[in-house]
Amino acid sequence: MKENKFEFSYKIYDNIEELPEEQQLLLSKAREVTEHAYAPYSHFHVGAIAKLVNGEIVAGTNQENVSFPIGLCAERVLLASVSSIFPKMAIETLAISYKGDGVKSDHPIAPCGICRQSLTEFEGRMDHSIRLILGGIEGPVYVIDKASLLLPLAFTSNELK
Ligand code: THU
Repeated sequence: MKENKFEFSYKIYDNIEELPEEQQLLLSKAREVTEHAYAPYSHFHVGAIAKLVNGEIVAGTNQENVSFPIGLCAERVLLASVSSIFPKMAIETLAISYKGDGVKSDHPIAPCGICRQSLTEFEGRMDHSIRLILGGIEGPVYVIDKASLLLPLAFTSNELK
């Protein structure tokens, strides 16, 4: 019998001001873009901003529907936009923020399981890791060097070969 251990480290900043300037800018934009979410059912507005390796900035927000399961998270809206507007372009950094009616936005939220799978595949196909910056409208900020660290033992396309 063998035992394996999975662990990773990430940075925790006390607030946005502690981040390097460029990362501050990306998180501020992610906070701003929460306003573009369409979330009339959950009232939970998520904003995502990607900086691509070519320097372009792309936004994504969650888009809900009265048929609840077809709603899309901000992260997957963003990945679809990046692939459509700048095909084959890798993402360098992805900042994610949120604002909810009646909930405090004072700590980071992490991508849901489905989005972790999508982010992991995006990293794989572009052969480039995505740095995540996670933070609320205020409060501490997490910086994770590679999105797929959040999905250990991932199911990947290698299994289909
Ligand atoms: N949501 C995101 O957009 N990203 C996440 O990482 C977590 C959840 C959205 C989905 C739904 O529209 C709302 O937030 C509440 O779950």
